[in-house]
Amino acid sequence: MCGVVAYVGAKKASPILLESLARLEYRGYDSAGIAVISNGDLILRKRRGKLSVLNASLIEKPLSGHCGIGHTRWATHGEPNEKNAHPHTDCTNSFAIAHNGIIENYERLKENLIKKGHKFKSQTDTEVIVHLIEENYKGDLVVAIRKTLRKIKGTYAIAVISDKDPGKVFVSRCGSPLILGVGNGENFVASDVPAVLNKTQRIIYLDDYEIAQISKDSIKIFNLEGKILKKKIEKIKWDVDSVSRCGFAHFMLKEIHEQPRVIANMLKRRVCGTKIEFEELNIKNNYLNKVKKIIITGCGTAWHAGLIGKYLLEKFTRIPVWVDTSSEFRYRDPIIDKNTLVIAVTQSGETADTLASIRLAKQKKAKVLSICNVIGSSITRDSDGIIYTHAGPEIGVASTKAYVSQIVIFFLFALYLGMLRKTLRKNDVEAYLKKLKKVPRFMEKILGNKNTIFRCARKYSYANNFMYLGRNINFPNALEGALKLKEISYVHAEGFGAGEMKHGPIALVDKEFPVVCIAPNCSIYEKMISNIQEIKTRKGVIISIATEGNSQIKKYSHYVIYIPKTDELISNILIALPLQLLAYYIAVERGCDVDKPRNLAKSVTVE
Ligand code: AGP
Repeated sequence: MCGVVAYVGAKKASPILLESLARLEYRGYDSAGIAVISNGDLILRKRRGKLSVLNASLIEKPLSGHCGIGHTRWATHGEPNEKNAHPHTDCTNSFAIAHNGIIENYERLKENLIKKGHKFKSQTDTEVIVHLIEENYKGDLVVAIRKTLRKIKGTYAIAVISDKDPGKVFVSRCGSPLILGVGNGENFVASDVPAVLNKTQRIIYLDDYEIAQISKDSIKIFNLEGKILKKKIEKIKWDVDSVSRCGFAHFMLKEIHEQPRVIANMLKRRVCGTKIEFEELNIKNNYLNKVKKIIITGCGTAWHAGLIGKYLLEKFTRIPVWVDTSSEFRYRDPIIDKNTLVIAVTQSGETADTLASIRLAKQKKAKVLSICNVIGSSITRDSDGIIYTHAGPEIGVASTKAYVSQIVIFFLFALYLGMLRKTLRKNDVEAYLKKLKKVPRFMEKILGNKNTIFRCARKYSYANNFMYLGRNINFPNALEGALKLKEISYVHAEGFGAGEMKHGPIALVDKEFPVVCIAPNCSIYEKMISNIQEIKTRKGVIISIATEGNSQIKKYSHYVIYIPKTDELISNILIALPLQLLAYYIAVERGCDVDKPRNLAKSVTVE
């Protein structure tokens, strides 16, 4: 996913642009560039590769100027090279643009522009926008941008500067995030809050089709019709520490260690006695009482959390629950009516498929509730109700604290709905809330024993294939454990329902094939043990995750990673930690870029 930044103020723009881009590196990229207005001229500097390459060039040949835009590119149209790196300029080199998103009708627009004599320098869809601006510019850049945006179809977060209107940055968005950072005598623009948090905590969230004209001491916001809009300045509660590593080797490790505090804070914020509070739920109880069907949708890790949500919601509310990946949901013409509640699960609130899914759900008259970690993100703005996880910024590409906080939110929401619809007795709710309150302490205990996991990871980091097995509510955990390993260590890993082994996967098992077996004390523990025995007779390497005090499982396992003894539904939350740490340590042993894995972005804002 690309990163867009901009600065206008009294300071030199280029170092501020580079620093902001560095804070967006977790989004993934393959080239970077900036454009500034220097002594009245528009100057570009772009390089393929990491920001360090661009920075070296700026140290060698600095750029002056107090107004500029910057971009980290995650290639969608046109290969990753300097020519295709942003910013892009028009024929007269008077306008420069940085863009995150996809322009779906760019080919037809490009053909028309070429017929009119425009010369293109890149293969990107983005370059079409800046030539349209050149085409539409008659002296007022906001008017030119409004006319241009009416012609394009697709998603965009753009930042534009021009030597025709030096000292100003012009931005707009549709379907891709963009925030304005309000400073004193300076202003900032970025794709995400962490990029500006060390400069200001005063943020304006731009909405779709809004255009902002930003100078060092003023911000004017218009709609596409040119009407001036009044926007609220929000005060972000995160501090700089939230987006720095704080001494951890990687953001992912820091965020794994934040989980006890995240869950403790969540329970403190949302639970008082047996009262469970969702301050932004904004969906009336009499609607929730009439819900006949729930569909949960999300991608990747968020989809896995949704699968766990199904178990919890069906158990506590007896409402039938379907779970879809958003990329499937949006194209399968789902059966939805006004008594269907669609729950979107998303850390970033910007995942394109999930955003499209909730828009489809609303067209079909469903109520939409989003479980999200980023306040003011696109998906939350399109939802009827929101439950924020308040996990703090998750910078590592591999989702960890977001996953665990999503599961706990599902737990709390299922208890809330169960109480409301009287499918749960009050003392059952009380009992579960009491057990949930022990989760942070149990997590600390697991983190305290992480050396066992480290030794196991080091021993098996050679393997190029892993299998993860779980049953019932731990089947989604098997999928999640496999995804964690895949995405940060590039090791092939597959998660299965353990009952599926005999239907094919067991053919894969041999002594080079570690199998992670999720086998806590639970109603189907004996079934897991028979699967483990089947693997053992086929010389598979068995790494078991089991409940403290279970010595029997040692007979069958090469490694046992213990979690504290608790209710089987609660242990489901704890199991995520060993899975995350196992993947982390294997990735580190294999020398992988844990926080910025190849080919991946933190949030997939394009299809
Ligand atoms: C998980 O570790 C991945 N980074 C990815 O699968 C992620 O969960 C998915 O892209 C969904 O992102 P979202 O939660 O921001 O919507």
